[in-house]
Amino acid sequence: MSNQTISNIVWQGSSVHKPERQQLNGHKSCILWLTGYSGSGKSTLANEVDKRLHQMGVRSYVLDGDNIRHGLNKGLGFTPEDRRENIRRIGEVAKLFVDAGMIPITAFISPFREDRQLVRNLVEPGEFIEVYVKCPLEECEQRDPKGLYKKARIGEIPEFTGVSSPYEEPENPELIIETHRFTIDQSAEKIIQYLMKRI
Ligand code: ADX
Repeated sequence: MSNQTISNIVWQGSSVHKPERQQLNGHKSCILWLTGYSGSGKSTLANEVDKRLHQMGVRSYVLDGDNIRHGLNKGLGFTPEDRRENIRRIGEVAKLFVDAGMIPITAFISPFREDRQLVRNLVEPGEFIEVYVKCPLEECEQRDPKGLYKKARIGEIPEFTGVSSPYEEPENPELIIETHRFTIDQSAEKIIQYLMKRI
């Protein structure tokens, strides 16, 4: 979009603000950002946490890589530039959810530190909870739920994270969940416990 076009757009203020929305919902809002290899368990964990929050009356919503790439981010591939744009857009969407007083749970590989930091900077301090869904690459590759690692190894999928494209581990995540050491129940419980003290 040209600067000319942007300069003709004026930010529209709203009459209901985040604190009022949070009050109506009965809890604060934040982004629960799950990052990790494909096959590490992000989506499973996101859905389990979402289910528990829902049962507790907390307004959460899962944004998942595989689904978002069929809609909002259709057309984006897996080059570093496309991944950056993928994460940038999700970050903006997640920020809207936070503004709406909700808890978006995002499940994206989001392999680059800089891109995750960009999202962290979009919201207020404490509103970005980075959860490193940690699982050794060998284990993810063994699980290979979608058969993609196998294809990546024989060169059928280029730039596959962990095989031919890097994954930059979080340096200071709010939470580390080791899915090869704990059950889904235990992992979800750990996230819920962390969240309950903060919302
Ligand atoms: S991200 O790197 O841009 O954050 P995202 O989480 O949206 O990735 O999508 C990852 C999912 O797309 C994987 O779980 C896998 O199913 C699929 N996929 C297809 N091609 C690739 C690839 N080259 N690298 C990683 N995942 C891929």
